[in-house]
Amino acid sequence: MTNGTLDGRVALVTGASSGLGRRAAEVLHGAGATVVMAARRMDRLEELAGELETRAIAVACDIRSDDAVEGLFARIDEVGPLEIVVSAAGISDAARAETQSRRDFTDVLEVNLISAFDIATHAARRMLPAGRGSIINIASIFGLVASTPVRAAAYAASKGGLINLTRELAAQWGRKGVRVNAIAPGWFPTEMNEEMFASPNSVDWIKQNTVLGRAGSDGELDGAIRYLASDESSYVTGHVLVIDGGWTIR
Ligand SMILES: NC(=O)c1ccc[n+]([C@@H]2O[C@H](COP(=O)([O-])OP(=O)(O)OC[C@H]3O[C@@H](n4cnc5c(N)ncnc54)[C@H](OP(=O)(O)O)[C@@H]3O)[C@@H](O)[C@H]2O)c1
Repeated sequence: MTNGTLDGRVALVTGASSGLGRRAAEVLHGAGATVVMAARRMDRLEELAGELETRAIAVACDIRSDDAVEGLFARIDEVGPLEIVVSAAGISDAARAETQSRRDFTDVLEVNLISAFDIATHAARRMLPAGRGSIINIASIFGLVASTPVRAAAYAASKGGLINLTRELAAQWGRKGVRVNAIAPGWFPTEMNEEMFASPNSVDWIKQNTVLGRAGSDGELDGAIRYLASDESSYVTGHVLVIDGGWTIR
C-alpha cells in the first residue's frame, strides 16, 4: 500500500543503512517511489530491502569513492529516470578544534560536503536534461549555529557549507526544473549520537535548550521529506527547512 504521491518515481537515498536515511527511504517508499538505497553496510540495506519487499534496491557504496559512486549511478540508470535524491549519509567529529588534525577535519568534509556535492552533480546530469528533479540535503542545526559545547568544528563547517551549497545549486539548476533544498534537523536519537542520548545529563541539556522541551521522535521529519520530494513543493527551492523543536530560535 502506498499513499500514491510518488508513484512511479525513482529515488536515491544515501545513508539508508541507519537513522534518518533509513527512515527517509521508508517514507519515500511508502509514498510509492522505487527507492535505491546506498551506504557501506550492505547487510543493513539488504535487511531493509527485505522488509520493504518491492521497489527497494540495495547498493553498497562508499560515497567517498569515485568508482563506487559511478557504480551506484549505473545501477540507478538501470532502474529508471532519477527524480528524487535524499543525501543523508554523514559522519561527525568530536574534539577540541586545537587538537584536530587537518586530516581529521578533511575526513568529515569529504563525506558531509564533498560527497554530497558529488551525489548532487551526478543526479543533476540526469535530471537537467529531463527538466525535473528534487534534491534534498540533510544538513543540521549546526550548519546554522555553533555546536559547542558539543565540539564539532568539522561537522559544523561541513553543514554550514552544505546549506550554502544547497542555495548555489538551486540557483544554478532552477531554470531547468531541478529543485535543491535542505532540511536542518535538531536532535534525533540515532547511531550518530547514541552516546549523547545514553547520558542523562546530555539528554537534560537537549531538553533545556529545545523550546519544545524534548528531542525529535521517529516520524517528525517524514512530512518534510514527502513535501520536498513531491510536487507539493513545486515552488520551493534553495530553502532550508529547520525542524528542531525551536533550538535555533534563541
Ligand atoms: N540524528 C540527528 O540528530 C541529526 C541531526 C541533524 C542532522 N543529522 C544528519 O542526518 C544524517 C543522517 O545521520 P543519522 O543521525 O541518521 O546518523 P547515522 O545513523 O549514523 O547514519 C549515518 C549514515 O551515513 C552513512 N555513511 C557514513 N559514511 C558513509 C560513506 N562514506 N559512504 C556511504 N554512506 C556513509 C552510514 O552508513 P554506513 O555506515 O553503512 O556507510 C549511515 O547510513 C547525517 O547527515 C547527519 O549529519 C542528524
